[in-house]
Amino acid sequence: MTRGCTPSLDDLFRQQVIAQFRLGKHSAHYVDHWDRVAAYGAYLGARNGADLEVVRLFALLHDSQRFEESYDPEHGPRAARFAEHHCGKAFLLEPPQLQLLMQACHDHDRGRTHHDPTIGACWDADRLDLDRVCIQCDPAFMSTAEGKRLALKRPWDRQQEVGIVS
Ligand SMILES: [Fe+2]
Ligand SMILES: [Fe+2]
Repeated sequence: MTRGCTPSLDDLFRQQVIAQFRLGKHSAHYVDHWDRVAAYGAYLGARNGADLEVVRLFALLHDSQRFEESYDPEHGPRAARFAEHHCGKAFLLEPPQLQLLMQACHDHDRGRTHHDPTIGACWDADRLDLDRVCIQCDPAFMSTAEGKRLALKRPWDRQQEVGIVS
């Protein structure tokens, strides 16, 4: 957001999501993670034909409803319900897009892969940031060809390719 300008709906929603996050700024699931997922997702989605708006919203929302830092198996379903509640108010998606976003959020931590290019890009983007918690990326858990390729790279090289670091 540019200082002095009216904040966009996207900016306001982002601030709303940040404000309601329960785990604080030192969480491994906070905004810096969301932003890396967004960067990975945009990179993957531009290459596999994913719905980039769904991927962008997944990055913002998928971990936003965590109540516990470690074991919290309901945070994905909560994120799906949060997305459904705010669709049409804070952001606009067509019904098929909302279904993709909700499914991507709901099941993102189940360790599965998916053939749909949008859900695949979402899940790969999240898993490509696992090295932040000292978990090595595993191509076997990637859904997309680009995700598998990036998973084999060293974290710094991967982040540099995507533009997270320069
Ligand atoms: Fe998560
Ligand atoms: Fe995540």
